[in-house]
Amino acid sequence: MSEALDRDRLKSFAVRLMAVYGDATLVQMIDLGARTGLTGVLAEAPGTVADLAGRAGLQPRYVQEWLGAMVTGGVVAHDAGVFTLPPEHAACLVGDSFYNTSAMARAIANGNQHNDVLAEAFRQGGGIAYGDQPGDIVGLLDAMGRARYDTFLVDSYLAVDAQLVRALADGADVCDVGCGAGHATNLIAQAFPASSVVGVDRNPDALDAARAEAASMGLTNVRYEVADAADLEAGALDVVTAFDVIHDLSHPRETLRAIAGALRPGGTFLLYDAAAPSDLDAQAELPWATMMYGISVNACLTNALAGGEDAEGWGPMYPRAGVEEALVAAGFELAGVHPVKGDPMNALYVARR
Ligand SMILES: C[S@@+](CC[C@H](N)C(=O)[O-])C[C@H]1O[C@@H](n2cnc3c(N)ncnc32)[C@H](O)[C@@H]1O
Repeated sequence: MSEALDRDRLKSFAVRLMAVYGDATLVQMIDLGARTGLTGVLAEAPGTVADLAGRAGLQPRYVQEWLGAMVTGGVVAHDAGVFTLPPEHAACLVGDSFYNTSAMARAIANGNQHNDVLAEAFRQGGGIAYGDQPGDIVGLLDAMGRARYDTFLVDSYLAVDAQLVRALADGADVCDVGCGAGHATNLIAQAFPASSVVGVDRNPDALDAARAEAASMGLTNVRYEVADAADLEAGALDVVTAFDVIHDLSHPRETLRAIAGALRPGGTFLLYDAAAPSDLDAQAELPWATMMYGISVNACLTNALAGGEDAEGWGPMYPRAGVEEALVAAGFELAGVHPVKGDPMNALYVARR
């Protein structure tokens, strides 16, 4: 080892890395707790190892080791052999509240499954489209937004623009691009029965889920089409929405131009997307920046870069200034940029034709 090394700096970074590795393994434990139902069992009532293993139908020795990680990681409390998940922690890990972010652990654990393929993409270029990513990617993407849409979509996200709400209430031709499993799309159709809504996504599996949910909700004013987000009919729409998708696209600017062309004069585009500060030092102040760059590499960016050599690929840390510039370049007038309730990582951009 070189004599020039600053030993204090080396030691402090080595210690920090232990904490980093610990947190990384805690992510896997959180995901295992969700997959096995163990976290849910613990959230219902405290218990001993034997009691929790019995209630969850799991092997006690694994449960004991998992609890060791969860206690030393500060997730679970223990006293005299009884383990407790504090209710505030339970709210962040189980249930229907938008505070439940356990899908993030699933996304990170998912990304780790294809590191070999990703390493090859780093060398050769290209990427892994969502449809080819491991696990139940449709269910995962749905789980990441569902509770937020239930809580905020109609009363907060759409409500940022009175002209948009009026158009929807009066009856608009609406398209939700990159709709995934369609929960946001279905909620719009449900809230605005005079409007006619189409959800487009290039993943047919996602649209099967979207259609099934629409049927279960008894909706008759929504339909789904497998299509690329850039293939919209010109001048046929009053409202376009894009939730958490433009930064995933291979050719985001081409799609923004297509959306601008698809809107009738006066039409509104509601874009829910990345809004990072431009400067890396400013990004370093954000507690989620590292996580979002990682999720970008293993999901969003690699999906975008799967789209050919000329793919651009923004990723979820794309700066707000870049998004605004791209909207104007696509032919929109920017009518407003608003914070997203329940999601400080993104913004709501209202753009008009
Ligand atoms: C992060 S998900 C968001 C899904 C949904 N909007 C939501 O908020 O739950 C991104 C979606 O964009 C879709 N997508 C990616 N590239 C696309 C393209 N070129 N055309 C249409 N959909 C695309 C993916 O299949 C995926 O369903």
